[in-house]
Order: sequence, then C-alpha cells, then structure tokens
Amino acid sequence: MKTPEEFLEDNGFRVDAIDRTALLTSFRQEMQEGLAGRPSSLKMLPSYVSPEGDLRRDVPVTVLDAGGTNLRGATVEFPSGGSGAVISNREKGEMPGATEYVDPDGFYEAFAAHVRRTAPFAKDPSIGFCFSYACETSPEGDGKLLYWTKQIQAPEIIGQWVGAELARRLDPRPPKILVLNDTVTTLLAGKATEKPGVRHSAYIGFILGTGTNVAYVERNANIGKISIADRDGSMVINTESGGFSKITQSAFDRAMDAKTHDAGAQMFEKMIAGAYLGRVGLEIFKAAARNSFFTPEAARGILSLGSLASYDLDNFCANHKTEQPNPLDRIFATDVDRSVARRLATPVFERAAILTAVHLAAFILQTGGGTDPNAPVCVCIDGSTYYKTRTVSFPKIVQDELDAMLKPRNIFFELAVCPDDAPLVGAAVAVLLQRN
Ligand code: BGC
Repeated sequence: MKTPEEFLEDNGFRVDAIDRTALLTSFRQEMQEGLAGRPSSLKMLPSYVSPEGDLRRDVPVTVLDAGGTNLRGATVEFPSGGSGAVISNREKGEMPGATEYVDPDGFYEAFAAHVRRTAPFAKDPSIGFCFSYACETSPEGDGKLLYWTKQIQAPEIIGQWVGAELARRLDPRPPKILVLNDTVTTLLAGKATEKPGVRHSAYIGFILGTGTNVAYVERNANIGKISIADRDGSMVINTESGGFSKITQSAFDRAMDAKTHDAGAQMFEKMIAGAYLGRVGLEIFKAAARNSFFTPEAARGILSLGSLASYDLDNFCANHKTEQPNPLDRIFATDVDRSVARRLATPVFERAAILTAVHLAAFILQTGGGTDPNAPVCVCIDGSTYYKTRTVSFPKIVQDELDAMLKPRNIFFELAVCPDDAPLVGAAVAVLLQRN
C-alpha cells in the first residue's frame, strides 16, 4: 500500500518538486509575449490608468464593486486634511449571475439600482466601477468583458462594453463610467492611502480570494501592443495572471477542471484560488477512496459528496471547528481516516502558497523596481484566501519564498495589507485622480 504522499506524487501532485526558477522564467516570457500582443496565456491588459497625480478632495463620487459573490454600491470621498477615504450610503447585494443565470437587463439593473440610490449624493456624476473580471479597457476607461471567470452565469454580457451598457440604462446618463479591475483598484487604493514620507519604487496590486490576479505599473514604452503618445509615462497593467497556463497540472487538477463551466481556462487560478481549492481536494479524496485509502464508510461518504467548499476543506485540515457542521468531520469519523485525509489535502494549500510566491516574484522583477532598499516594491494584497486560510499561513510562506528568491538578487519588496474596502476606495481614486 502506498503512502498518501506517494499516491499524490504518482498523480503528478508534488509540492517539493515545484521548479521555482523555471516557473519564474515562464511567467516572465509570457508577460513579454502578452505586452507585445503575441499569443500568451497572460493577457497583460492595459488599463490606461496611472497611479500618479493628486486627488480632488471633498468631492463625493458614486462607486460600484462587482466581485465574485457580492455587489456593492456606495459614495466615497476624500476629505481635505485627511489621508483616508470616507464611505457612505454603502449597500451590499448578491453579484447577479453568481448563483443562477441572469439576462442582460436583470444584470445591469442590479447596478443601475445602486447608482439611482447614490447619485443624489455625488458632486461629480462620473462613476468608478470596480469590476473583478477580465476586461479589455478603452483609452476612455470603459471595459469590454472578454470572458467570465468565477463561474458567473450571464453569457450575453461577454463582449459588451459594460460601462456603456450601464450608462444607457441610467437617466441622466453619467458622463463617464470608469471600469476597473479589482487588482487595479487595490493598487490605486494602496498607493493613495500610504503614509506620508514612505518611498516605494514600484507598485503591485494582488488579489487572492475567490479568484486571483495581479496588476502592476509598466512603462508605456514596454507595452508594444498599443500606440500611446506618452512613451515616457507608465500605466497599470491588468495581467490576468490567473490565466497562466505554462504549468503542469496533476491528474486531480485536470479532473476538477473538466467539471467547470470554463474547462481549459484559468489554469493557474484553479491551482491557487478559493473558488477551486476545495474542488481539487474533493478530487483527491475521491481518487484516494477508489484506491482504498479510507475505511469503506468514509469511502462511501466521500464518493457521494457532490461539492466541497475551500472553507470546509481548510477548516478540516486545520482541525478548526465552527458553528456550522463540516461535511468532512462527518465523513472522516475515525482517527485513521482523518489523518490520511489531512495528509492528502494539506498539500493543496501548501502548493497554492508556493505558487503564489513564485508568480509574485516574477511580477516584482518585471516592475524593474526594488533595487534601492529605501524604496522597495510595494505589493498591496487583498483577498480572503490569502489572509484567512488556516491550514498554512500564506503571508509567512510567501514572505519566506520571496526572500529566498529575491534576496540573492538584491531586490527589495514589502508585502502590504491593502486598505479596507479597497475596491470602493480605488474606484473613487480612479475618478478623482488629476494629473499634475
Ligand atoms: C478575474 C480577474 C480578477 C481576479 C480577482 C479572476 O477570476 O479574471 O479579473 O482580478 O479574479 O478577483
């Protein structure tokens, strides 16, 4: 009988064999291809937004935030004299299409309702819209949805300019709707609210929650696929790093992927993000059950389990009890089953943390910053998977791995907790930034 570790290895799941150097190189190559407009699994989408400039103060604006699960609307302003944002009229609902199909009218109406509610409080009628999905951005700041991730069921929205579609359903029409990726708003919010006096040579916005993605600031001269007059300037790039595909999947990743709405897509995201870790774990458990790793009762239980949330897998592996019953506690009722199950699934989280670090290293290097210890690269991080996973500590593993990869290169960086409500704050920053 094989050990759980040997079983994982036989199926291509090996945490100790992650080739960090090779992955780092592939990430950087894919970035270059994406920036040049050649085929690449990294979309490298120009945002036409730069984080430089001063904020207009005392001007409340309407902001929207469409995430994987929730939709929020609010009013945000930056009072003069303070460095923080004030958020009011905040309301939260469900992201349309998250649990069932929604048609375009139903989809946009969910956002329009928030705008009607908050518009009377705004002094500038432009809207900042944090939209946490892959969009091509127009130079004017609208966003065209390229494809859905996070299993959203609203197929007609794909290919639409989301800001324009929303605007035409509003009366009066807002003069401008800026559609921004959540990694872009994280980066903008992080920079706009940093303490006076701190120096950073470059900025990265990173999300690891239901989905994952990275944005960073790139020199316009390096973005070969667009022609932009200001070759000396720079702009934020939404890399759509979750789409990275130059990585070897295990048999369990492939089995899980085959059951998703977007099989073959978002390979990297499906190895590290919250929407998928539970599903990968379930595939491992089912395969292990078929290979007699569990008692017959546990095997029957796990083979009949239809779905497994990352949250439950994490709490089980970390032996953390909550008020809500965890299906795995019922299924793995004996000490032996529990121990085998934990040995099989803990590596799902370990692998995710290491891969997270490797790709962050690649983006830190791509910024070209961090050569002066007094001006590190600021990596502004948001997301529940990163901060709330209990089985392993993402912040610790990422810090250690990045130290090991970047210290020998004399590259300095800082992992920063992003400000509260970064999607709302960053969306307002985008509307209120004025170039000097
Ligand atoms: C989306 C990205 C988003 C990320 C984090 C991914 O599924 O493709 O656009 O930034 O999730 O929310």
